Amino acid sequence: MQGTDHKKTIEDAIQSYLKKNPSTPTGLYQPIEYMLSLGGKRTRPALALMGCELFDGNSQEVLPAALAIELFHNFTLMHDDIMDNAPLRRNKSTVHKKWDQNTAILSGDVMLVHVYSLLERIKTEKFPAVFSIFNRTASQVCEGQQLDMDFEKEKQVSIGQYLHMIELKTAVLLGASLEIGAILANASEDDAKRLFEFGKELGIAFQLQDDMLDVYGDEKKFGKQKGGDIIDNKKTFLLIRALELSTAYQKEELLNWMMAGERDGAEKIIAVTALYESLNIRDHAKKEMDAHFEKALKSLAGITLPETKKAPLRKLAQALMNREN
Ligand code: IPE
Ligand code: IPE
Ligand code: MG
Ligand code: MG
Ligand code: MG
Repeated sequence: MQGTDHKKTIEDAIQSYLKKNPSTPTGLYQPIEYMLSLGGKRTRPALALMGCELFDGNSQEVLPAALAIELFHNFTLMHDDIMDNAPLRRNKSTVHKKWDQNTAILSGDVMLVHVYSLLERIKTEKFPAVFSIFNRTASQVCEGQQLDMDFEKEKQVSIGQYLHMIELKTAVLLGASLEIGAILANASEDDAKRLFEFGKELGIAFQLQDDMLDVYGDEKKFGKQKGGDIIDNKKTFLLIRALELSTAYQKEELLNWMMAGERDGAEKIIAVTALYESLNIRDHAKKEMDAHFEKALKSLAGITLPETKKAPLRKLAQALMNREN
């Protein structure tokens, strides 16, 4: 089972999860259906299934965990969009814009409860190991999200701090998806860890790509507001490097824009993007992304399995690096 087969398996699992949800109160359950029906790449559940298949496990056994991870991801997005004041997600209004903020909070909360109900369905003796990886990871995602918000208010954030933050908010969940798949397939601890490392480095590259798409992507394809990170003063790789490389004059200009009010949003995006251009920031970000991608591939190479078995993971990783959404 590969590629499009995964997609169908995951979509079917999502549909059957949605069918079992009550219909009322509509304010609680409709946003879940809305969010999950907007599409999305389903990268994390695909990684869980692929991690399992890599070690010849039974995909059916990993499906509840894969679904739980996708649901968890969507819960984080629902709350992330409140935190980031984002109007668009997957080309549609975000939940807090379509309904309201309290609805997005509570609907997200019940999604997280459902994540745990799904995890309860893991019936193998591997349950405690999977549960503890999941819980560790979920806490780390929250830690990363807090750092991401804290950094908005800081003028000076280092690349090291940034990499630590994205490892937490994004990368460990990709790593854990693979690791959980591998563990449910009875992979050795060493192999499961190597696969985690592959996913973590891929996840760092993935977030760097997300930061680039936020500035340079095609809004229609990306499905999110272009320039949202610039408006929020997110300490993305792009902004941190720009602050590092700018002349005193350029730096002052950047810092001034960081104090701009909401009204000047469109102008701010144009001005900051122009500064990025003059400093070739995109190339720097791309270089950093490629380095993490290479690191990911090295970890994958460390798993002693035939190359043909690892090919689907390499292919997916490559596709993620070339994505437009
Ligand atoms: C968005 O994740 C959040 C980030 C970690 C950048 P995805 O890009 O995987 O979002 P969907 O699920 O495909 O919409
Ligand atoms: C969010 O990072 C990562 C999460 C844990 C939700 P972003 O804030 O960059 O994600 P997008 O761009 O809104 O999808
Ligand atoms: Mg966001
Ligand atoms: Mg965010
Ligand atoms: Mg983003």
